[in-house]
Formats: sequence, C-alpha cells, structure tokens
Amino acid sequence: MTGNSVELERAEAEDAKALTDSCKRAFDSDSEYGSPGPGGPPGYDSVEWNADKIRNRYLDYYKILSDGEIAGGFIVGDRGPDYHVCERIWIDTDQMRKGLGTRTFDLVWQRYPSADVWVLGTPEWNTRTNPFYQSIGFVQIGKTHEYSWDGIYYEKRISSGLPKAMSSIGDIRDGQQRVIAEGRVEEVTPTRAVSSRKTGEQLRVADAILSDETGSIQLVLWNEQIRQVKDGTSIRVEEGYVKSYRDELQMSVGKWGLIITLL
Ligand SMILES: CC(C)(COP(=O)(O)OP(=O)(O)OC[C@H]1O[C@@H](n2cnc3c(N)ncnc32)[C@H](O)[C@@H]1OP(=O)(O)O)[C@@H](O)C(=O)NCCC(=O)NCCS
Repeated sequence: MTGNSVELERAEAEDAKALTDSCKRAFDSDSEYGSPGPGGPPGYDSVEWNADKIRNRYLDYYKILSDGEIAGGFIVGDRGPDYHVCERIWIDTDQMRKGLGTRTFDLVWQRYPSADVWVLGTPEWNTRTNPFYQSIGFVQIGKTHEYSWDGIYYEKRISSGLPKAMSSIGDIRDGQQRVIAEGRVEEVTPTRAVSSRKTGEQLRVADAILSDETGSIQLVLWNEQIRQVKDGTSIRVEEGYVKSYRDELQMSVGKWGLIITLL
C-alpha cells in the first residue's frame, strides 16, 4: 500500500491519449498472466475508441489519478437502475500491486451509494484479475459466452434481496425492455432454420422455457445463443426484451444482451 493520494475524476476528451497509453501497457502485460496471445479487449489500444467512450452518455468513464497523475482508468456501465457493470478497469504497469485497484473500487462504491449490485466478466485464463476481483469481494456466479473465450462472471451484492433491476419471471410483462431475470431452463426445442424477413439471411432459432418459483416464460434463442442454453441448467439473462405472440409472452436476448450460465 502506498501513501499516495488516489482520486477518481470524470475523464475528458484531452485525457484519451494518456488513458489509451496506460490501458495498452496494462493489458499488454496480460501476456504474463495467462493470456493466450497478444492483444487486449476491444479498443484497448485505440485513442479513438477511448475518446468515443469518454463521450458516450450511457457510460461513466473515469481517470484514476495517483498524486494528480493518470495512473489508470475505470469505465462504468449499467444494465438497469442500480445494476452497475464494471466495463473495464486498468492500472498502469508501474503502479500495479500497490493497492490502487482496491482503493479505486472503494471510491467507486462511494460514488454509487444506491447501487444494489455490481457485475463484471473476466477471462477464465486471467491469473491476475480473478484473484484481484475476489480480493475485493466479487463472487463468481457463473460463466459467460460473450467473447471468443469463456468468461467468469462475477457479482458483488451491495444490498440484500432481489436487485431492483431484476424481475421474477411471474412479474415479466409484455413490452418490457432491459429485462434481467434468472431461471431454470426446462425445455429446449430442436433448432429450426428460418430466413430473415428483412434480409433473407438464413437464421437458426430454438425456443426454451425459463422458469422460477413465480412462473415460466418462453425464451427465443437465435444463432450463437442456442449453444449457450442447455436443458436443466440455470441461467441469468441480461438485456432481455419481451413481446407477445398469440397471447404468449416471448423473451429474446438483445444484441447487447448476455446469457450467463449460473454455477
Ligand atoms: C487487475 C488490476 C486492475 C489490479 O490492480 P492493482 O492496483 O494492481 O491491484 P491491487 O494492488 O489493489 O491488488 C489487490 C489484490 O489483488 C490481487 N492481485 C493483484 N495483482 C495480482 C497479481 N499480479 N497476481 C495475483 N494476485 C493479484 C492480490 O490479492 C492483491 O492483494 P495483495 O497485493 O495484498 O496480495 C491490474 O492488475 C490491471 O490493470 N491489470 C491489467 C488490466 C486488466 O486485466 N484489467 C481488468 C480487466 S477489465
């Protein structure tokens, strides 16, 4: 632990270059912590990507300052009210393992006092991030299939009970957007081939039934989503949306959505 001051400030356009440089150094050092090859997450070495995220009004992009100098970055997203996502955190290589990451999260908890839950995904191979997140109280709840690698999905509950942004299945309504719900997969139909009405493209589709103690809903799975959902497993869906078809509710998982196979 250093005696340095640590502050979290909103990043501005002119910080994009310094943030990108520190981000590139931080993620390039993953090669020593299990990374299967060079590179990092999308845009990690791109000033344009970072400038774009700084401007993005759906994200809160912070610079981490140590003694007034940029020592890393932290990007916050959300999937619903008080359901926050740590989209990205990094600490520059010369500042690592001095407690800055931990102190940054302490500042984050203070900045979002009404948060019910924080979630994040990290690669299974990463021998540095997994112990880091566990050391600050994140608990693995499952695995994601969001990327080409399997991700470990973590959450940290701040308050007890069902987070405000999550729905019990029996409460899900027609037209609902940004649904976050958990349930058991009870049936998955065989995959059918259909062609898109808009583009004529061949698509694969399958239906599953998702149930909890309050009810059941049909879950429509497209293409890559099909292999992520196995009969008899429990899953969490984030960014689901609901429509009714012949008086039956159908939930689909949006483009930015996530299916998490729960432990
Ligand atoms: C992950 C990261 C943010 C951690 O930041 P940090 O400031 O170095 O972490 P801290 O010093 O607060 O470490 C806290 C604890 O995490 C664990 N930890 C941190 N680095 C570790 C490492 N290299 N190996 C094993 N455990 C580690 C330890 O338990 C550590 O406590 P200790 O030092 O008392 O043993 C930083 O390593 C990083 O930027 N990595 C590259 C980018 C990345 O992968 N970001 C996350 C993905 S979005």
